Parts: sequence; structure tokens; C-alpha cells
Amino acid sequence: MQTAHKIVVHAAGGYDRLKLESCAVPACARGEVRVDVRAIGINYADTIVRMGLYSSAKAYVGWPITPGFEVAGTVGAVGAGVTDLRIGDPVFAVTRFGGYSTHVVVPRGLVFAKPPALTFEQAAALPAVSMTAWYALFELAHPRPGQRVLVHSAAGGVGSALVQMLKLRGCEVVGVVGRSEKVAVARGLGADHVIDKSRDDLWRTAEGIAPHGYDVILDANGVSTLRASYDHLRRPGKLVVYGFHSMLPREGGRPSWTKLAADYLRTPRFSPLDMTDASKSVLAFNLSYLFAETQLIDAGMRTILDWIASKRLAPPQVTTYPLADVARAHAAIESGATTGKLVLVP
Ligand SMILES: NC(=O)c1ccc[n+]([C@@H]2O[C@H](COP(=O)([O-])OP(=O)(O)OC[C@H]3O[C@@H](n4cnc5c(N)ncnc54)[C@H](OP(=O)(O)O)[C@@H]3O)[C@@H](O)[C@H]2O)c1
Repeated sequence: MQTAHKIVVHAAGGYDRLKLESCAVPACARGEVRVDVRAIGINYADTIVRMGLYSSAKAYVGWPITPGFEVAGTVGAVGAGVTDLRIGDPVFAVTRFGGYSTHVVVPRGLVFAKPPALTFEQAAALPAVSMTAWYALFELAHPRPGQRVLVHSAAGGVGSALVQMLKLRGCEVVGVVGRSEKVAVARGLGADHVIDKSRDDLWRTAEGIAPHGYDVILDANGVSTLRASYDHLRRPGKLVVYGFHSMLPREGGRPSWTKLAADYLRTPRFSPLDMTDASKSVLAFNLSYLFAETQLIDAGMRTILDWIASKRLAPPQVTTYPLADVARAHAAIESGATTGKLVLVP
């Protein structure tokens, strides 16, 4: 009998919780597809799942859990009713958890043909960050050409996709990065200005570039910048909130409960009365709750794949790790030193 391998987290904690285990190859039910995995995208959210702080992981899976939102590989099996895929077809897929595995079963609607121009590693790195960026921009913020947009963490996974999509839309993009080594990466993606907050005063520099404020700001830092991001919107402006990584540790892999509690209390509460008067909006989402919205996923992926095919969106820049080295990959993405996407190879 064929054996599968997966990373299993039995309880919340640090890197030692990421256990490589053997299991039976999963079977497909009606309408499902089994992907024999060649590459697995890592997302910052996977580290929050490991720490036990990711709400949708608790809502949909609980413990034990195999993290992972995206894989690429070949079709290994199909369930009844799946007639448009053949064994061996190269594909990529999104999955609500369970991606850190050699064999992943997903509904047909979450499987997409791998573009020939992408390697398996690039395809596995594509869907989560590009869907996040697409949803933030084209379902929520709707930036118009010529508008000035500030993107925090502009050289990371989501940030890289945001910068490129904003340039496709004709916006003026100000990227913010936390390390000097990332400045060239953000510029290479097309950012018109890059603020290196390790060296420059973030908000003074941002005000110099946009004295009247920004039309849109995309913020996954959370408490460390949210209030100032809102204050730096022009009228009418939109703040898109999609993460809270500044509450979490950059090393060690375990959150500080004191810091989490203090940061929770310090996180700004935006009043509808004030927002109406200021003509500013705060928009927020977590894509992991939206996987059942098949029309939405399909529309986003179709647009993204068109951009990839026409070379308007560059394939994600990837750094690979063996699946067994997942702990090292988690430590790397938590450190804040990485750029682009990290990918696990089974
Ligand atoms: N809501 C959603 O649906 C959704 C979907 C995908 C991702 N996200 C969120 O988007 C963010 C980016 O995700 P990603 O996977 O693309 O990761 P990433 O941007 O590749 O890596 C995270 C980046 O955040 C910054 N950072 C990390 N830890 C930090 C800390 N403790 N304090 C301040 N800054 C820190 C660092 O960049 P700089 O130092 O250069 O800023 C780091 O490189 C995460 O917060 C993630 O949870 C949300």
C-alpha cells in the first residue's frame, strides 16, 4: 500500500510541534480530486495556526491539524463525477488546511490547471497571496488609476502581489519594508517609492511623499501601524486590514501572552460615527473563511491566471525548503527577513 507523509501539529506551540508523520493515502469522495504533491506554499498564517491563534483553524479543524493552504502537483485520482481532469495532469490547488502533505484531497472547484510557464514551486506559491491581494484590491478597495496607495510589508508574499497588481491598475505605489535588503525587491516589483522603516522615519517619509494622504493603505501589521495608517488616509480613503503580525514574535516561535493581551487592548477601535464624518472606510477580511465562495475564487483565479499568461504578473519569487525542514522555514518567515514566498518540497 502506498504511504503518504504529512506535517501534523497535535497541540499549539513552537517549532518542535511540527511533526512529520506517515499516514494512508487519502481517498477521493464524489466531486473530489487527489493531488500528488510536488510543492507546498508556506504562508505567514501557517505559523499562527501552529501557535494555536488562528480562529478559522479552530472553527474548521481543531487539533491535530496539518497546516497549509496551497499545493501544486499532479492529479493522482479523481472521485465520481470529475470528468474533466486526467491522472497525471499538472495542477495546483487551494485547500482549507491540510496542505503540508504528500497527498491532498480537495473539491474539484479548488483545483486549477498549472500554467505551463510556472514550475510546480511557483504554482504552489501563487494562489493564497495573489487571491488575497486580488480580493483586497478588486473586491474591497477598488483603487483607480493614478491613486496613491501605501503597501506595508511590500516585499513579502502578499505585499509582492499587491505592488504588482496596483501597478497593473495604474496606481502610484509606496512600498514599506522593514529591512534595507528588501528595498531593491520592492523596487523590482514596480513600487514607485520604497520606505525602509529600519532606516527612515516611516510616517514622516510617507507624509513627504503624500502630503494630503493616501487613497488606499493595505495593512497586515495590525497594532503597530493601524491607527497611523488610518490617520494617513486622505478623504475619501480606504484602509484594508488583513493581518496582525506585529502582535507575534520574530523569534522563538511562541507568542508572549502578555504582549498579545496588551496589543489586543491597544488595537484601535474605529467608530462608524467618526468614519462617516471623516469619509474614510476600514475594510477587513480573512480569505480562509471564503473558500466556499466558489464564484469568487473562480473569478479571482481566472483573472490572476490571465495576468500570468500575458506576463503582466510575474511568477512568485520562491525559496524552497525540504518538507522535513518545515521548522526552519517557519522560523525564517517569522523572522521578517524573507522576501517573496517560501515553498516546501516533499
Ligand atoms: N486576511 C487574509 O486573508 C490573509 C491572507 C494572506 C496573508 N494574510 C496576512 O498577510 C500578512 C503577510 O502574509 P505573508 O504570508 O505574505 O507573509 P510575508 O509578508 O511574506 O512575511 C511577513 C512579513 O511581515 C513583517 N513582519 C513579520 N513579523 C513581524 C512582526 N512581528 N512585527 C512587524 N512586522 C512583521 C515582515 O515584513 P516587513 O518587516 O518588511 O514589514 C515579514 O517579512 C500576514 O500578516 C498574514 O497573516 C492575511
